[in-house]
Amino acid sequence: MAAGPHLIRLALFGSPVSRSLSPRIHSLFAAQTGLQVDYRAIECSTSGLQTKLRDLADTGGRGCNITVPLKFRASQLATRLSARARQAAAVNTLCFESQTEWFGDNTDGTGLIRDLRENLGLELAGRRIAILGAGGAAAGILFDLLQPAPAQLVLANRTPQRATELAQRFAVIGQVQAADIRNLQDFAPFDLIINATSAGHQQSLPPLSPGLFAPQAHCYDLNYGTAHHALADWCQEHGVRCHGGLGMLIEQAAESFRLWTGRQPDTSLVIEELTGALN
Ligand code: ATR
Repeated sequence: MAAGPHLIRLALFGSPVSRSLSPRIHSLFAAQTGLQVDYRAIECSTSGLQTKLRDLADTGGRGCNITVPLKFRASQLATRLSARARQAAAVNTLCFESQTEWFGDNTDGTGLIRDLRENLGLELAGRRIAILGAGGAAAGILFDLLQPAPAQLVLANRTPQRATELAQRFAVIGQVQAADIRNLQDFAPFDLIINATSAGHQQSLPPLSPGLFAPQAHCYDLNYGTAHHALADWCQEHGVRCHGGLGMLIEQAAESFRLWTGRQPDTSLVIEELTGALN
């Protein structure tokens, strides 16, 4: 792409990023909005992030996305943080306000809530929700999940201590109960169970049983593509409605795009196109 005065330079930093869908999503947003965007996925280590960010900011970059395993490091490098990014200690979006002023935000939670509410039509207020996992992915969605006032929010993890620590960190935002994932039955049934574990990347599953789900309950997997297959198969076998995380991925990207450009893309067209491509 020829660099011109209107070219918006963006990037994704993480590891691995070679199979990321983000460049494709942002090029679809660019085509839709008529903006000239150069969005590149760049492999990067934790120790190399600061230099790579500086390079992008110094050469006219407008901002970037940050993915696994760099979200915590990015929260340290941002010079200003949104409330949700500070609470999560995780940044997935940086906006370069100047060469040295880097605003860090986290659009993962907004992306999840928009996919649940607007695309899937799920109400969250007054519902009983469980999150499986207490790593970076869970931390990134807790702030936004607490906003619609669920009746109950249980954070369940294989290593219970991590769930306890994360729940305590979010106690200033709302009530989160920590649980050992093996004892989740004690808090059931749930209207919505969100898988924020990384088990799907090893084609495995967090421990689940049909009794955890209320009638008409939904299961939402933050994973998509092949990492979503094991959970999708389990849900199909047990009659649980299950949704992969592609909609969230596209919605969080749309929120990042809006922060960088001020333009709100139409996500429904992109969800349709990429769902077709992934199937
Ligand atoms: P991420 O940034 O993707 O959240 P992470 O911080 O490494 O990655 O966290 C991965 C989460 O998936 C953790 O909650 C992990 O549980 P532990 O804290 O006990 O390690 C969870 N996880 C990974 N594989 C799992 C499995 N097979 N069953 C249940 N939980 C699993």
